[in-house]
Amino acid sequence: MFTSRVIARSPKLLSATASRITSLSLSKPIYSIRPITCSTKLYKEDKRTPSAAGRALDNEKSHEGSFGRTDKTIRIEHPDESDHPPSKPIQGRGGLHFKRTLASFTLEGGVAVVTGGARGLGLVMSQACVISGADVAIVDLNKEEGDRQAQELMRHFQEENPGAEIIPKVTAHYCDVSDHVSVKRVVADIVKDHGKIDHLVTSAGFTENFDAIAYPPDRMKKLWGVDVDGTYFFACEVARHLMERKVKGSMVMIGSMSGAIVNVPQPQAPYNAAKAAVRHLASSLAVEWAHAGIRVNVIAPGYMLTALTGKILDDNPELFKHWTSLIPQGKMGQPEDLMGAVTYLLSEASGYVTGAELRVDGGYTIT
Ligand SMILES: NC(=O)c1ccc[n+]([C@@H]2O[C@H](COP(=O)([O-])OP(=O)(O)OC[C@H]3O[C@@H](n4cnc5c(N)ncnc54)[C@H](O)[C@@H]3O)[C@@H](O)[C@H]2O)c1
Repeated sequence: MFTSRVIARSPKLLSATASRITSLSLSKPIYSIRPITCSTKLYKEDKRTPSAAGRALDNEKSHEGSFGRTDKTIRIEHPDESDHPPSKPIQGRGGLHFKRTLASFTLEGGVAVVTGGARGLGLVMSQACVISGADVAIVDLNKEEGDRQAQELMRHFQEENPGAEIIPKVTAHYCDVSDHVSVKRVVADIVKDHGKIDHLVTSAGFTENFDAIAYPPDRMKKLWGVDVDGTYFFACEVARHLMERKVKGSMVMIGSMSGAIVNVPQPQAPYNAAKAAVRHLASSLAVEWAHAGIRVNVIAPGYMLTALTGKILDDNPELFKHWTSLIPQGKMGQPEDLMGAVTYLLSEASGYVTGAELRVDGGYTIT
């Protein structure tokens, strides 16, 4: 049974939210009055004499705890390949410049592998590596999209650096990261193509929303297979390669703020647990491989506005309002907000940083 409450929002908040929504070209209109539905408690009321604070809460029964709960009516499935929108590389960020910056941030001379690099955050982090001077191998289930984006990244680099003598080499490779055999094969292919691997970014991953009891077991296993097993398999194959070459290297695992907090209102227990696993996997491998000079760190993004999240929010405008209301910076992140973070953690600029988690979440996890 549901009760409903109506909350009027301040005009200032409204106009800020409205401008953000417009930029997403959401389909539904924004109203100045927003109905919020709150589910009632499933457990028995506590009949003991209430304290003053308890009495105050009694007056707001329908409000109590409502902003901190998951809503099991929200269900979002990861789309099939045909419905998965393509991403675009960032425009106008990679040109030559003469601003002073630390030389230790460069990735020149290195080869970086980015899993899930054909789209979204992985694509933009691949671009950050290219702009920083690395050759890049994009790894993805969608090889065709990877090929297209590899060409785009090289074209962008040439456009923004006319006359550059060295153009970073960008290749694309098919792999299902959840399949150990596929991972072994692709790492060997990349070494054949590029001669070596120095850096790894594991961005292949996805989320879905079902309440825990209704979560289809096969989908839950698939999610852990990609988000956890895939990260582990790739890290181990690249570490094996680095150890055989007896050279140091750096890895960045893409976790999520969901590895540290529980998102509301959408239920996503398996994803949250998977990202917590990625976080502790990075710490564990950082310790295990420190002797070999292999650093392992995590970037934990907050809500980022990719082509896919944009599409999900188009269909669920209430989610956008709920999410941004919980972010101290009041806005979702742009994929390019990860460019500096990934370059820092892959490069020598972070030479003494390992096993760390860098949260890029607009302050979400500190409130
Ligand atoms: N977008 C966000 O708001 C957000 C927030 C926090 C964390 N993350 C994490 O960032 C990572 C990237 O997310 P995104 O938003 O860019 O997603 P995305 O769907 O836009 O891109 C993911 C890419 O991974 C590929 N992929 C999926 N399964 C694969 C597999 N088994 N093998 C190889 N490639 C596979 C997909 O084809 C796709 O190109 C994920 O791990 C995600 O959990 C995203």
